[in-house]
Amino acid sequence: MMASKNFTAFAGLFVFTLALFALSAYAQPVKPPLATAEHMNGFALKDYANFWKRADWHFVTVRYRRDSNEMRLTYANDIAWKALLAGSKDYPDGAVFGKVGLLTQEDPSFTSSAVPAGARRYQLMIRDKEKGKETNGWVYALFDGRGKAAAEDQDIASQACWACHALVPERGEVFSQPMSMDISDTFADPAKIPFAQGIPRIEFETVKVSTLPEKIRSKLPSGTETVRLVQGKLALHLFRGTIDEIRPTLAKEALRAKMPAVLMSKDGTLFSAVTVDDGTPCGLSGGGKGVNVKAFYTTGMMPGKDSLVADHQYCEKK
Ligand code: HEC
Repeated sequence: MMASKNFTAFAGLFVFTLALFALSAYAQPVKPPLATAEHMNGFALKDYANFWKRADWHFVTVRYRRDSNEMRLTYANDIAWKALLAGSKDYPDGAVFGKVGLLTQEDPSFTSSAVPAGARRYQLMIRDKEKGKETNGWVYALFDGRGKAAAEDQDIASQACWACHALVPERGEVFSQPMSMDISDTFADPAKIPFAQGIPRIEFETVKVSTLPEKIRSKLPSGTETVRLVQGKLALHLFRGTIDEIRPTLAKEALRAKMPAVLMSKDGTLFSAVTVDDGTPCGLSGGGKGVNVKAFYTTGMMPGKDSLVADHQYCEKK
């Protein structure tokens, strides 16, 4: 009698723990596994130690990611800098670009000001036509804030890096341009900002919802018949970085086309989508008016692996 009571209590506790576990797994996006490798594609961050404060490197430009509050500073070694200034389409071996992604936090005293709050990632592009022959001559390497690289799937990640950088062939697959200081020019005509010139837009095509996997269909607003789907190399080679980075671009396309916008891996296991549900207006945190949008996306790192779907609603600039 006693034993069976104990058993029931034990089984109950077990089921309860399982339920809690399942719930917590759904409530939170999966944390990426901790990176453990020193090298990615044969290069370590140590090989370029402190590139951001070395006298023989050049500061190229800064970018700010509004969605993740990340400040990005890009530097070039001397070979890369000279080729960049010369408008190279084919960088010579030995050229290296380094990028630091810094988290920022609100300054508690001066709340309109964001202050650096530690390195989140380091990224390198090393020109080595032999070692980088699978990715058109650039070797790509990504490290976390501790300088560690993911030990697995480095090939898939490199292909994903390249798929996006290949959007700018006329710049030798380098996005950054030396920072423009000419304010008068910038205000007069935004198209004159060097970055805005000649960038091919990400390609979208309108496709029927019925062609998408159930995991995506079930999240779309009812009655949706078509979506704007990203085409080209970017969709063929993607990883978690692309899933996150593409979200604001999808939101812009969804608002423009008045239809959900989706980026999906070939096998449908990784995706990122943005829908404009009811289009209710909202206030942007930095001031100004926006529209409520809903993003839903897989939390896995690589295509073909287990992944949960997370979603959130936020206010996007019109
Ligand atoms: C979805 C597109 C996308 C993907 C994927 C991507 N990048 Fe980039 N990368 C950019 C953009 C855009 C810039 C310009 C600066 C910025 O926005 O931070 C950039 C800049 C860089 C730079 C500075 C030189 C330059 O081209 O401006 C390096 C180095 C770099 N990326 C490395 C990587 C590595 C390593 C990976 C893969 C782990 C990667 N990138 C994946 C879009 C991408």
